[in-house]
Amino acid sequence: MTDLLLLPGDGIGPEVTAQVRRVAGKITPDLTLEERPFGGTSLDLLGAPLSDETLAAAKAAKAVLMGAVGGPKWKDAPRAKRPEAGLLGLRAGMGVFANLRPAICFQPLANASSLKRELVEGLDFMIVRELTGGVYFGQPRFIEDMPGGGRRGVDTQVYTTAEIERVARVAFELARGRRNKVSSAEKSNVMETGLLWRQVVTDLHAREYADVELEHILADNAAMQIVKNPKQFDVMVTDNLFGDILSDAAAQLTGSLGMLPSAALGAPGTPGLYEPIHGSAPDIAGKGIANPLAAILSFEMALRWSLDRADLADELFAAVNRALEKGARTPDLGGAMTTVQMGDAVLAEL
Ligand code: IPM
Ligand code: MG
Repeated sequence: MTDLLLLPGDGIGPEVTAQVRRVAGKITPDLTLEERPFGGTSLDLLGAPLSDETLAAAKAAKAVLMGAVGGPKWKDAPRAKRPEAGLLGLRAGMGVFANLRPAICFQPLANASSLKRELVEGLDFMIVRELTGGVYFGQPRFIEDMPGGGRRGVDTQVYTTAEIERVARVAFELARGRRNKVSSAEKSNVMETGLLWRQVVTDLHAREYADVELEHILADNAAMQIVKNPKQFDVMVTDNLFGDILSDAAAQLTGSLGMLPSAALGAPGTPGLYEPIHGSAPDIAGKGIANPLAAILSFEMALRWSLDRADLADELFAAVNRALEKGARTPDLGGAMTTVQMGDAVLAEL
């Protein structure tokens, strides 16, 4: 059985996942790895961004680590064939409904943030984004011609109580192991799904998690508070679209998207999907200068959440910090190291 399925994907994906392979080879030499095409690369090779074989392999593995998908080469492909459709299909197919997106400010990088150092120093906050529902998947969705001329585009935002409850549960459980606070972000002042979201989270909290501090926050205000005073947050739970936007804002606080991993989790016992938050960065692909730390830290999350090796995850996290303290920097962090040299810097600390 494959422990870790690697999906290098497009752009810088193969470069950064190659460094994950080296790190895994050193700290988990017995781990079985498998690699499969995904995204645009898979479209070129197999005619689909996510083949049936790759989805089946993903479901059968213990954990899946994806590099990045997308790029200008496939931007005119029909929507269903686009690399991004492969990613959405993988998330839905694996049923990974809870997306953990940490915003951690690494001490040696506190000056790289666009915010003042004191606002972000020591920042450690987690966005839990609902990942398999909402407007990303809601039906109907279409663009149609209108009888009198012009066209209209329709997307549908849908959430059921079960979908809200299961992701909120993940947030409450996480908070208990952290600073015990959950901020639930929605637009209950405007949206029906927002209203239901607030009710379901409130009920679940009263029933099972009254020991955790809960605040409700409107998503627009959440965006403002994230850039104003991010350290007020511990765990923020929100829907798929708001989570997409708020997690990019939160990530930027830490100075570099190139540093941040993510984990997408489904029901207990099912494989998790791990991916760096950054994209495929076609502008620097193939130059060997991409920062592999977000991918390496995604492996760290896989060790923790799917592979039952929290001890090794702690070791790896500490090694990345030591490498940064010693000045390991790729160009996106204001340094001159190559991707491979960054891999070397982490390996040297293991
Ligand atoms: C993300 C990305 C994806 C999303 C895209 C690539 C489909 O922005 O993982 O945040 O919107 O979910
Ligand atoms: Mg996004």
